[in-house]
Amino acid sequence: KTIGLLFGGRSAEHEVSKLSAANVLRALDPDRYDIVPIGIGRDGRWLLCDSGNGGGRGAQSLEIPDGAPQVTLLPGGAGETIVLNGSAASRSLRLDAVVPVLHGPNGEDGTVQGFLELANVPYVGSGVMGSAAGMDKDIAKRLLRDSGLPVVPFLTLTLRTRIDYRSAADALGTPDLFVKPANMGSSVGVSRASSAEEFDKACERAFRYDRKVLVERSVTGAREIECSVLEDAAGEVRASPLGEIVPAGNHGFYSYDAKYIDADGALLRIPADLSPTQARRIQELAVETFKVLACEALARVDFFLDPKNDDGLFVNEVNTLPGFTAISMYPKLWEAGGLPQNELMEVLIGHAIA
Ligand code: DAL
Ligand code: MG
Repeated sequence: KTIGLLFGGRSAEHEVSKLSAANVLRALDPDRYDIVPIGIGRDGRWLLCDSGNGGGRGAQSLEIPDGAPQVTLLPGGAGETIVLNGSAASRSLRLDAVVPVLHGPNGEDGTVQGFLELANVPYVGSGVMGSAAGMDKDIAKRLLRDSGLPVVPFLTLTLRTRIDYRSAADALGTPDLFVKPANMGSSVGVSRASSAEEFDKACERAFRYDRKVLVERSVTGAREIECSVLEDAAGEVRASPLGEIVPAGNHGFYSYDAKYIDADGALLRIPADLSPTQARRIQELAVETFKVLACEALARVDFFLDPKNDDGLFVNEVNTLPGFTAISMYPKLWEAGGLPQNELMEVLIGHAIA
């Protein structure tokens, strides 16, 4: 099978995607798959990074080489899958499936998925609806709330409906707030705000990334628990063992820097220290979240657990193309659940072409 590996992308998580893609490439068995890495530049151009069998294997980050030939994706037509026309070499390549290793807007949000639907090529992960619903924290939280799943109270602001700190804090019943762009990942553009001045700065920052911004009650002292969800080709959905993010250093919350820049920025504890009853409850909620948001194949569902409060369990968010770097929770949780990364990729590709 020939597998296209899409990575990079027009998103603030471009660099994270390159790390994830290097790791996915390592997990794909070269004896089973011909791998065609296609890097999406920050300008949106699709570039053929390697025409051999996934050059860059073993690298920490998959790079888009200077002068890589631009490729165009064309609808394959009946019985075909996909054709890539290299403008430089004007070769054609057929892809049996695409693995979109893209995070954030223009990749994880249904746009690339819609493009692949039109091109009639199978791809790993959620379809247009699940991707779009999962990416937009405002939409996702409203759907979850409507289904009776616990979410942290929030307000949604646009440039036209901005409010001041006092009103936000009063509405949410706490002086400690989180401000986030609605559509973003890896905590890009997320800040904490506990004063009017911090709130204004936080809003300004978040509005740099999106036209819609979420203000959430900060669940002070909450533990961050994550669960990987996987759907196989037969449609069976299962939850992995749970992991916990243990903040380290002085990051304050699990920020972009704590995730990727500072090697000691956070610790992953697998399995998370929870009672069997608590763990089962969280796993059930993870599967329910996956289904409510119309996710397919894979997602990581993130939770807040307030240890001081018996009702303090909340679904924080869902990631339909979760980080897949060498240090990422999604593949690590499946490893802990007895599914090594190469087998995980088999399940995902099996689901895509089923
Ligand atoms: N958005 C990042 C990649 C994650 O959820 O892991
Ligand atoms: Mg996310």
